[in-house]
Amino acid sequence: MQTITKIAELQEKLNSWHKKGESIALVPTMGYLHEGHQSLIRKAYEQNDHVVVSVFVNPTQFAPEEDLEKYPRDLRHDQLKAETAGANILFTPSVTELYPMNFNSYVKVGDVTEVLEGLTRPIHFQGVTTIVTKLLHIVQPQMIYFGQKDAQQLVVIKKMVRELNFSVKVIGCPIIREEDGLAKSSRNIYLSPSERQAAVSLSQSLKLAKAALINGQRTSHKLIKIIVQRLEAEPLAEIDYVKVVDTQTLKAIDRIDQTALILLAVKIGKTRLIDNLLYQK
Ligand code: PAF
Repeated sequence: MQTITKIAELQEKLNSWHKKGESIALVPTMGYLHEGHQSLIRKAYEQNDHVVVSVFVNPTQFAPEEDLEKYPRDLRHDQLKAETAGANILFTPSVTELYPMNFNSYVKVGDVTEVLEGLTRPIHFQGVTTIVTKLLHIVQPQMIYFGQKDAQQLVVIKKMVRELNFSVKVIGCPIIREEDGLAKSSRNIYLSPSERQAAVSLSQSLKLAKAALINGQRTSHKLIKIIVQRLEAEPLAEIDYVKVVDTQTLKAIDRIDQTALILLAVKIGKTRLIDNLLYQK
């Protein structure tokens, strides 16, 4: 695996693959890779000739009060994780390489960015869609891979790709969890031991909702009540939202008939965690 920091060098390398008609996959990440990222890289490796993994802690998707500075970074760790999962190139540009002086062009997707995460993180998705657009233009992959854990991000990217006619296939991959159910996330490192224990309440609450769904409970407010009760039993948990929404529009739905997303955001101490359940009939 080769580590590349410059756009021009990356594109020179990719050109030889593009010319031979070989397929290229892109797995965009902010680094501190874990098994969740590795599952994306493995899938990309299975389905394509070459895999580019980008590692870039994207400043435009963080608000000033958020964790940009303390976001975990470890290049050596990322090189090992990416290489073992099958990456051919690790692209690790600097901030100025991607955002030169006076940069002022952004990609904005409407409605689906204005709900859920968008309410507490108003500039977040504009930063995500801008950086993903830049990476798509630089790499020109046939396929791009995202984790289902950031379910809203996946919906936003799919809408952007569809509505702005990007010629790339967006692949969503299942959430990878710790043994006790906590969804893998680079931010889990912020949790103290007692917070780490408390954090399991997110996946446990979704598990209870799933059991209720399987037993025929289809009413959103009843499913939400089951989740809230479990979360409220955890003194360290502070609920931001629990919602049952349509998988494309992200609009709240009263009943689950076909597919639906149950999404939650919860603060455990100072760390805000998200998790979700994708229900498919
Ligand atoms: O999901 C992430 O890690 C980031 O939002 C992404 C897609 C790499 C863009 O910075």
